Amino acid sequence: MSNVKTVLVTGGCGFIGARFVRHLLQHTDYRAVNLDKLTYAGDLERLRDVHSDARYQLVSGDIGDRQLVQQLFEHERPWAVVNFAAESHVDRSILDPGLFLQTNVIGTQVLLEAARTCRVDRFVQVSTDEVYGDTEGREPSLEDSPLRASSPYSASKAAADLLCLAYRRTYDMPVLIVRSSNNYGSFQFPEKLIPLIIRNSLKRQELPVYGDGGQRRDWLHVDDSTRGFLDVLRAGRPGEIYNMGTGSLRTNIEIVREICALLARRAGLDLDGLLSHIRYVDDRPGHDRCYEMNTRKIRKELGWTPEVTLDDGLEMTVQWYVDHQHWLEHVVSVDYQAYYDAVYARTWQQKQS
Ligand code: NAD
Ligand code: DAU
Repeated sequence: MSNVKTVLVTGGCGFIGARFVRHLLQHTDYRAVNLDKLTYAGDLERLRDVHSDARYQLVSGDIGDRQLVQQLFEHERPWAVVNFAAESHVDRSILDPGLFLQTNVIGTQVLLEAARTCRVDRFVQVSTDEVYGDTEGREPSLEDSPLRASSPYSASKAAADLLCLAYRRTYDMPVLIVRSSNNYGSFQFPEKLIPLIIRNSLKRQELPVYGDGGQRRDWLHVDDSTRGFLDVLRAGRPGEIYNMGTGSLRTNIEIVREICALLARRAGLDLDGLLSHIRYVDDRPGHDRCYEMNTRKIRKELGWTPEVTLDDGLEMTVQWYVDHQHWLEHVVSVDYQAYYDAVYARTWQQKQS
């Protein structure tokens, strides 16, 4: 295996990272080494079918652990890094900002430093449309639009992007940044809107909608985003930023109502009963109304385009959760209720890390 290229994927036990690891093994000859801390968001079930693959290896550890990361780079000599590892949930960042700085900022810098000293050929940073802040009343964000992060989460992601760009300029590192819109699909942790609404519906619980539900998001199926990350890894130009999204936005309340309609059709639930469970709750502090990006660059340069329509993707996703309710209950088995109570109390009591 000595001439096989190794890709270090961080956060590969998470929702998107796991999909990416599987996609990489299926569509390339690369080895995948997955460095993951296995936080509440990391789940081995997502990669159950690849654990025995000779080209796959899991390393349990923290991207912020300098010694471990340096040793791993020296041992594996990765050709490329794709950094998915992060604290990814905005509401949790309001409860505990320090953890987000530690993983998303310091962790990224630790990876950049090891990648620099071990001269990796490509460093793909997985970023988000949230770094541009609220685009309500603005033109869709371009890759060089100003960063106006609103939450501790998005500020930590913006800081990580700036570190990547600084390593590019200062050390000529081959960094690439992908700013993706909201991903959805199977195996997403039910703290995020779509799986949370599906799970609560299946349990006949309230369906919390923040504020007036009129916030708009660009929902991208995770199979489309994983293709995009691989396109950038293979063919993106070092030093460049690529926005990635469908360009088609929906309000949150439209998404919630659509999920109710699909559950009525697919799981025989009573539609009026589901709709009556919708509860408008106090808004998320600092909540952005809209994220809209101009995604022409990734389409034109790399030929990437989304293939899953929201109607099809939502239908597949709802059906998957209906068929995998045991997975939902498995991932919420530790600490989830305490988290849920803390967020939906809407008092935003801060913890310090
Ligand atoms: P996730 O929360 O599902 O998974 C995160 C993974 O990172 C988990 O496996 C977790 O165990 C691991 N992790 C957390 N802290 C770590 C640490 N210190 N060291 C090593 N591993 C650690 O996240 P996701 O939704 O799959 O998002 C992946 C990446 O994509 C994140 O960087 C996120 O900011 C970005 N992103 C997500 C979306 C989305 O809609 N989910 C959209 C745009 C960008
Ligand atoms: O835009 C990309 C980002 O998308 C990623 O960078 C983040 O990692 C990812 O978590 C996601 O952030 P959001 O805050 O947009 O996702 P979330 O699913 O938490 O919320 C989607 C929208 O739904 C948002 O406007 C808040 C709202 N919402 C969310 C929850 C959990 C509700 O109205 N009710 C809820 O219970």
